[in-house]
Amino acid sequence: MNDNRSVIEEINSIYGGRERLAYVRSFGCQLNVSDGEKIKGLLSEMGFGFTEDETKADLIILNTCAVRESAEDRVFGIVGSMKKLKELKPSLIIGIAGCMTAQSHIAEKIKKSYPQVDIVLGTSAISGLPALLLDRLRGVRFGEDIAEYGDFSAAVPQIRESAFKASVPIMFGCNNFCTYCIVPYVRGRERSRRPEDIIAEVRGLAAQGYNEIMLLGQNVNSYGNDLGGEMSFPQLLREINAIEGDFIIRFMSSHPKDASDELIDAIFDCEKVAKHLHLPVQSGSDDVLRRMNRRYTAEKYLSIVDRIYERDPDFSLTTDIIVGFPDETDEDFRATLDIIKRVRYDNIYSFIYSKRSGTKAAEMPDSTSDEEKSCRMRELLEVQREISSEHYKRFIGRTMRVLADDVSKKKKGFLTGKSNEFIIVEFEGDESLIGQFVDVEITGAMNWAVTGRIVGR
Ligand code: SAH
Ligand code: SF4
Ligand code: F3S
Repeated sequence: MNDNRSVIEEINSIYGGRERLAYVRSFGCQLNVSDGEKIKGLLSEMGFGFTEDETKADLIILNTCAVRESAEDRVFGIVGSMKKLKELKPSLIIGIAGCMTAQSHIAEKIKKSYPQVDIVLGTSAISGLPALLLDRLRGVRFGEDIAEYGDFSAAVPQIRESAFKASVPIMFGCNNFCTYCIVPYVRGRERSRRPEDIIAEVRGLAAQGYNEIMLLGQNVNSYGNDLGGEMSFPQLLREINAIEGDFIIRFMSSHPKDASDELIDAIFDCEKVAKHLHLPVQSGSDDVLRRMNRRYTAEKYLSIVDRIYERDPDFSLTTDIIVGFPDETDEDFRATLDIIKRVRYDNIYSFIYSKRSGTKAAEMPDSTSDEEKSCRMRELLEVQREISSEHYKRFIGRTMRVLADDVSKKKKGFLTGKSNEFIIVEFEGDESLIGQFVDVEITGAMNWAVTGRIVGR
């Protein structure tokens, strides 16, 4: 890790007392958002304030995602349009950070075709930002840092997006190499953070009054595999549960191949751990699962679900689905619909397969047309909408503990929040309740949320 203090001092002296504003936008998953918060933390140390209006910015950082082609296209579109901004304000500095930068063909494309970009910052090189910025301020035209500085997360300051919900990465990288997925290539191998660092961070957040702690990792169930048996994820959950304070613990994601009985026990034993599990199934077809290298069968997946439902038949499950994996047949797709109907998820996050160059699946033949894939997607969403609206009815008459997190975009005077079970709840309430837990009695169910009224706090 590099020491940034002298670099930061020099940047401060170059700018003098002048105001400087940064526009930082994150495009990816919660881990990417968390990186964006660290980028902001570093920029704040360099004297930057922040703006949501890119035309006012002296520095723009786009923190990118590479998981699907559409995410990359969006960034290229935005970078393209920033050429104008730069013409209007030649001192503007534009930086690209995040997962896109870790693919050499993308980094090359940025360098070659987008001369308005000044800085390319790799996913493991956030702490290299001050040095790159200093070079740019001294007149170096283009700077790139995609080195590995290892786990610096504890040392990098962070400006969090929310004052009541915080994400805490517990590990970085992924070892699973699902054949469709770019993440292991852009995030490297699994590295677990030290348990004492994680616990200290959560303790600090709880003391500051954060109400929700989201533990992040590409597969939290393999947390600690590189710590020589010192601490497993279920153990970590128990340790965090023991921290004093009124907060809820969530975590993402859990790979089904590693979802153990110990994990299920910890979820039920720990009163602060949310009674919800995000368990990405991806497909219901054993043949597709094998070609995806997921290392479980539909039957194995369902055995985990059954173990959970034995403990609580109303337990809340959500999942990720990929539609149209190479050569997915209609029969394969029907198997996905079957598993969805069988599990009865509260919500699914579904994506049409996107070819990622460098992955194994990118080499697989694919004869299914785009039209067919879109058609399957529509059917999947339709089936899930019916399941959600039916399944949400089980909450009617119950009182849910809800963390109010926003004003409703649909109804004036109403708030939305997430229940312990990760269900969206809409209820009448004053904006001053945002960031607080409220008890809501559920009176109705829609296909995307339940509705109710506050009965206590
Ligand atoms: N580590 C997490 C997933 C991170 S990516 C996990 O394994 O659960 C989030 C989701 O994006 C994945 O679960 C998958 O459903 C989807 N996804 C990943 N690569 C994709 C691709 N090439 N095309 C379409 N969807 C993809
Ligand atoms: Fe990608 Fe699979 Fe790793 Fe998740 S577990 S990040 S889907 S390779
Ligand atoms: Fe996340 Fe996208 Fe990277 S999903 S890990 S930001 S490729």
